[in-house]
Amino acid sequence: MKKKTLIALITTTIMLVAALTSILVTGRKTNVNTDKNIQGLNEELSEIMYLGSLAPSSHNIQCWLIELYPEEGKLTVSADPERKLSVVDPQAREQFLSLGCYIRTLEEAFLAYGYNVTYSYDESTDTMNLSYKKISDKIDPNTITRIKKRHTDKRAFDISDSSKNEYVSKLCKNIGCEYYSFDTKEFAIIKKATADAYIKQAYDEETAAELSNWLRLSNKETKDKKDGLSAEQLGITGIKKVFYYLFTNHENAKGKTFADQGIANTESQLNGCMGFIIVSSGDSKKELVECGIKATDIWLDLTENNISVHPMSYAIEEAEYKTQLPSENQQMLLRVGCVKKYGENNAVRRDLSDYIKVH
Ligand SMILES: Cc1cc2nc3c(=O)[nH]c(=O)nc-3n(C[C@H](O)[C@H](O)[C@H](O)COP(=O)(O)O)c2cc1C
Repeated sequence: MKKKTLIALITTTIMLVAALTSILVTGRKTNVNTDKNIQGLNEELSEIMYLGSLAPSSHNIQCWLIELYPEEGKLTVSADPERKLSVVDPQAREQFLSLGCYIRTLEEAFLAYGYNVTYSYDESTDTMNLSYKKISDKIDPNTITRIKKRHTDKRAFDISDSSKNEYVSKLCKNIGCEYYSFDTKEFAIIKKATADAYIKQAYDEETAAELSNWLRLSNKETKDKKDGLSAEQLGITGIKKVFYYLFTNHENAKGKTFADQGIANTESQLNGCMGFIIVSSGDSKKELVECGIKATDIWLDLTENNISVHPMSYAIEEAEYKTQLPSENQQMLLRVGCVKKYGENNAVRRDLSDYIKVH
């Protein structure tokens, strides 16, 4: 073989290996390595605060600000005014629901580490207070597993399996919320209102721009920002993730092709669904936090029972579609169903020192 041909062959092979390696690395699950170190907090409290942050929040905005007083065993939680979805959530409804989700997950983390917790809401400042006291040295690994396992599952669920339908129905009755299973007439109404509301939002310039802002479109952007919606958060993994990152940018994510793809995904999610849970409450901030707490209670229970959950807020966000939904004062709409492999939280979460101030 001629020397020139040999060099060309080696160069091509190196390029191919480099390209393949890059594809494999991009396709792998991103680990954002949340920094749990924070001055003034011991290892146990840092771990508890980290577990609390695995709570759901709309668009993964992680809208919580914490003031922590370790010597007094208390902390306050308030809404971060910078972390709000002004277009789809102008009244901060979802922001306060998300804070409720945070409170419930944090309570659960404290309980897992043997603490007693009390919660109260201060309506004069719209802050939430948690007092905690260690009462046992026993750590409950099952509760920790449940927090880490809970996640939003955006896949189409397995409609051939409705074995857990009765369980969800009973749970909702016990907790006090509505459940509409696949065989009810309300189910079809929710499905249609959700699909229509999604279509409206997908082609709305401002809504699309807000979503694009919270999309994370490379592993680097995900690791830098540690919030928002990475490919994994959208249920896009492996080779699909490689192509998604290769061909999507913050500009074309506001365009028609992206909108069409989102509409097709939503349709497939709605077709892959065992039932919808509607969690309701009044509209005051206190009530919204309580509603978020209740929704997370349900979600953690469903997680333990391997029932997948996907909040779909589009119809609630759009007044003309909200009125079509069954039930009243709807705040959270959860698509639920069974899957073959449950999965776990992608844990795209910010460093603790970004939002916790220790006194
Ligand atoms: C109040 C609220 C509303 C949400 N609405 C939607 C929604 O409309 N569509 C969706 O795909 N996910 C929705 N989510 C799920 C979030 O995107 C998800 O919680 C966040 O990305 C963090 O991911 P995780 O739940 O897997 O931890 C919502 C979550 C909350 C708390």
